[in-house]
Amino acid sequence: MEYSGFTARCFVFGVTSILLLLSTVMQGSQGEISYSVPEETKVGTVIGNLAKDLGMNKKELSTRKARLDVDGGSKRYCDIDLNTGNLIVAERIDREQLCGPKTVCVLTSEIILENPLELHRMSVQILDINDNAPIFANDVIKLEIRESVDKGARFFVNEAHDADIGLNAVQRYTLQDNDHFSFIFHSNPGQEKYGELVLKDELDREKQEELQLLLTAVDGGSQPRSGTLAIHVTVLDANDNAPVFSQPVYAVSMPEDSPVGTLVVTVIATDDDEGANGEVTYEFGHISNDLLGLFSLDPKTGNVVLSGSLDFEKETSYEFRIQAKDGSGLASFAKIIIDVVDVNDNAPIIQLKSLSNSVPENTSPGTEVGIINVQDKDSGTNRQIICSISGNVPFKLSPSIKNYFSIVTSGQLDRELIAEYNITVIAVDEGSPPLSSSKTFQLSVADVNDNPPVFEEQFYKAYLAENNKPGTSICSVNARDPDWRQNGTVLYSLVSSEVNGVPVSSFLSINADTGVIHAVRSFDYEQFRNFKVQVVARDNGSPPLSSNATVSVFVTDENDNSPQILYPAPEGKSLMTEMVPKAALSGSLVSKVIAVDADSGQNAWLSYHIVKSTDPGLFSIGLHSGEIRAQRDISESDSMKQNLVISVKDNGQPALSTSCSVYLLISDNLAEVPELKDMTYEESSSKLTSYLIIALVSVSTFFLTFIILILAVRFCRRRKPRLLFDGAVAIPSAYLPPNYAEVEGAGTLRSSYNCDAYLTTGSHTSDFKFIRSYNDNTLPAGGTLRKSPDDSNIICFSEAGETLEVSWDVLF
Ligand SMILES: *[C@@H]1O[C@H](CO)[C@@H](O)[C@H](O)[C@H]1NC(C)=O
Ligand SMILES: *[C@@H]1O[C@H](CO)[C@@H](O)[C@H](O)[C@H]1NC(C)=O
Ligand SMILES: *[C@@H]1O[C@H](CO)[C@@H](O)[C@H](O)[C@H]1NC(C)=O
Repeated sequence: MEYSGFTARCFVFGVTSILLLLSTVMQGSQGEISYSVPEETKVGTVIGNLAKDLGMNKKELSTRKARLDVDGGSKRYCDIDLNTGNLIVAERIDREQLCGPKTVCVLTSEIILENPLELHRMSVQILDINDNAPIFANDVIKLEIRESVDKGARFFVNEAHDADIGLNAVQRYTLQDNDHFSFIFHSNPGQEKYGELVLKDELDREKQEELQLLLTAVDGGSQPRSGTLAIHVTVLDANDNAPVFSQPVYAVSMPEDSPVGTLVVTVIATDDDEGANGEVTYEFGHISNDLLGLFSLDPKTGNVVLSGSLDFEKETSYEFRIQAKDGSGLASFAKIIIDVVDVNDNAPIIQLKSLSNSVPENTSPGTEVGIINVQDKDSGTNRQIICSISGNVPFKLSPSIKNYFSIVTSGQLDRELIAEYNITVIAVDEGSPPLSSSKTFQLSVADVNDNPPVFEEQFYKAYLAENNKPGTSICSVNARDPDWRQNGTVLYSLVSSEVNGVPVSSFLSINADTGVIHAVRSFDYEQFRNFKVQVVARDNGSPPLSSNATVSVFVTDENDNSPQILYPAPEGKSLMTEMVPKAALSGSLVSKVIAVDADSGQNAWLSYHIVKSTDPGLFSIGLHSGEIRAQRDISESDSMKQNLVISVKDNGQPALSTSCSVYLLISDNLAEVPELKDMTYEESSSKLTSYLIIALVSVSTFFLTFIILILAVRFCRRRKPRLLFDGAVAIPSAYLPPNYAEVEGAGTLRSSYNCDAYLTTGSHTSDFKFIRSYNDNTLPAGGTLRKSPDDSNIICFSEAGETLEVSWDVLF
């Protein structure tokens, strides 16, 4: 490197030295002799011809003992060669030693001549030659420069030193070619000279930790010399690098059921700086407390570990930042994205949105009874749900919008069979393994009045002994209705009908709640023996349902009638005498006791006994026929008047009996009976007899009329063949009224048709006393069988319960 200031000066020095060389022999104006000689000239080298310059010859010079006188005993560098008269170099001359940095270096001495003593001044100027190289104070300097130092920074370097002067001194500096530094040399006159390294481009320790620079100083000699300085630059670290993550974003996914402690991700950040500047620690960036509980970060290793439990259903992904920081606080961030992967950890949830309290049993299939909602918190196939109703119930699910299902009936309901259903809905998701849940709902079936009451039997038979007390219960009917509450509450009633024209309610009553049937009145078997009523069972529904049953009431006989003797007249007063021919033979019929019993069966099976007789053994009576026959031939000796007391007894339990007296007169002629008046014969008896005759005549007449009437009726009412007395009707006879069971000898009862004939109020004045008495006996006082005066009827009961009626009004 060259600097113009230097060049100019060297040029001046150069000219000066040339001039000096040329004028070696120039004498000073004061007679001073001057020479010049370069330093380091070889010893013996001629500097100048001193003799000539002094104006003498060599001989004179030696004769006059010319010599050099050096001041102060200093070294003598020159000497006079007396043989030649030349001034020669006597000793090595080192200008740097003699004069140092002085620009002019002159040796002065005096030439002393004797004979005559003469004194001349002489000066020898020592000229510089480039015999010294530039030298730096140290071979090596070490610089420590922080990499963070800015461009333009300067670093002091000492100048190189060159002992030579002028052009031979240091003329320029050269710095080895490099990227970072340049060299400036400051050589302002009058000021300290120094060099400076200038940072022209910033250092980077991470690229280059050390630099070796060579600074060369070159002098200006014709053969330039140089000196070098090794500059060792150590680049000190500055925290100029932030840690750098291996990835800007770390994306991971993990199943939501990952256990605590699972390594989520490891982040790595590197820092090029060294030492503390390069020591990376990790920490979370701004993060919510929730996340802080969920993830933990190892500040040294960068391991992110799960410290809580994930729940896909709460949060499907997490995102946060992790900061990597070096020792002096430079930081950088990386983003962590954690995708939570769903695991089938939620069972479906079944919710009942609505459910009918109850559903009527008559709802048609397909009716909606409830709505459910099914949900699964998982996602994907884990939330696909299959729903069904378990068990064998008449309900099914029908999908509605989205996750809603309707519960609809799928069949007919019957509350009487199943009154309550437990509907269990099962929901299964399609995860693997699948999760399921179930829910049970109760649904009650509401009643509808769809069942009529049903009687246990369609036909009831009730047997009631006659002469019952009013209010006696005779039977009970029972009907069941499986419906609920009032729809199944059974109320009993009688169908209003009439028996013999009398409302049935006057015969029977029924307890509406219990179905117990009571007799309202006392019954008389002799009046009627059976009848039917219809009982209705009705529930309390709206509208009510009903059904009916038939109750046949059979009145059973009791032995409540004692036999009645029709003939002979029962009253003791009405004495009656039978004539018995004197010639009556054994076995001949003498008389007949005619008795009837209003009862029936055994109760009416009469037997006759002679309890007392005037002549026992003369007469006997047929046990059942009542015929009085002679037991032996009548003889003259037999008493004329025979008296028999006959008891008529029925076969009931206990038996009832009646007795009568029969007066027999054994005579062929009434006139022969003068003592007849002795017998308890009274006026009234004849009167009675005549009554009886009238009665018999009347009965005969009546009988005939009756026959005619029957024929007439048969002709007139051919179209009603089932009318009274059709076929084997028992025709009432005077002695045997039709309602009386006729007892045959063998005791068999005629029972195919039993007809009661009765003449009521309308016949009060008639002479059919037996009938009236019968009525009197059998209709107890207060009896409810009302009869209007013209209410004369014949009522027939058949086994089948048919009632045959014929009005007697025609007859009377
Ligand atoms: C329904 O379930 C209840 C209890 O959960 C039970 O008492 C009842 O007997 C069940 N009913 C039917 C019809 O199963
Ligand atoms: C009886 O049935 C009717 C319909 O026939 C119904 O409306 C009513 O609720 C039922 N009563 C009860 C107590 O179930
Ligand atoms: C009784 O029931 C029968 C059939 O069960 C019916 O035909 C009849 O009409 C019913 N009678 C009454 C009075 O309800």
